Amino acid sequence: MHVVQTVSEVRRIRRELTGSWGLVPTMGYLHEGHLSLVRRARVENDHVGVSIFVNPTQFGPNEDLDTYPRDLERDLSLLRELNVDLVWAPPVEEVYPPGFQTYVTVEEVSKPLEGAARPGHFRGVATIVAKLFNIFQPDRAYFGQKDAQQVVVIRQMVRDLNFPLEVVVCPTVREPDGLAMSSRNVYLTPEQRAAAPVLYKALCAARDAWKAGEHDGEQLRRIMRSVLDAEPLAQTEYVSAADPTTLVELGDASRGVLLSMAVRIGKARLIDNMLLLPKE
Ligand code: PAF
Repeated sequence: MHVVQTVSEVRRIRRELTGSWGLVPTMGYLHEGHLSLVRRARVENDHVGVSIFVNPTQFGPNEDLDTYPRDLERDLSLLRELNVDLVWAPPVEEVYPPGFQTYVTVEEVSKPLEGAARPGHFRGVATIVAKLFNIFQPDRAYFGQKDAQQVVVIRQMVRDLNFPLEVVVCPTVREPDGLAMSSRNVYLTPEQRAAAPVLYKALCAARDAWKAGEHDGEQLRRIMRSVLDAEPLAQTEYVSAADPTTLVELGDASRGVLLSMAVRIGKARLIDNMLLLPKE
């Protein structure tokens, strides 16, 4: 496994290893969710590249950039076991050298939900992902459904800027009690950890109602909010029942809906979602 820091080394290895490439962009501190993306990339491509970079431009001024968990050695040993060909773990100056001034803004779908709660977040995500696509030139790029709006933003950017690659979205990986895996789960104390499956419970309650014929968006939001409100450690930031492609809040959710939420539990800000589509 090649482990490199510079753009030029990535480009050299990319040129030398002919055949198809899958890219898994990450911020490190890998968990089973990331590893499921790597395994899928391993099956579908001749070569697999992984980036490990805690991208400062997607963090707001009062967010957890400095405390975001990091463990490069552990990440590398996990990736070695999965036969990854190339890992790029650059320092910040390699990605954003002095004088850097070009950003990618995906307009409408970046505005609601996470975009409203975290101004500038998706500009940072779109910019780093566009750079990763240009540097690795992958045939396929792998993302988790856990970050549903990120997937919508990246798909839109790929369409709008004609990136010649396939975006592959893999299912959210959950702990046995339903909590979606996230590097940020380490922020939870044992008591908070015990409360955290409430997000999944709220999503399941709304999903069950939708399956039973409740297609009013406002009712679905109300169901999620009432489950979350019953957990004293959870502070709800938003709940949403939105159009899966435009992310506009729905009145009528009968033709499919993306249920999503952001909830603070202690220091952790947790997000989760479920995509419901009518049977063909
Ligand atoms: O999903 C993430 O971990 C990040 O947002 C990504 C896609 C690696 C960009 O920094």
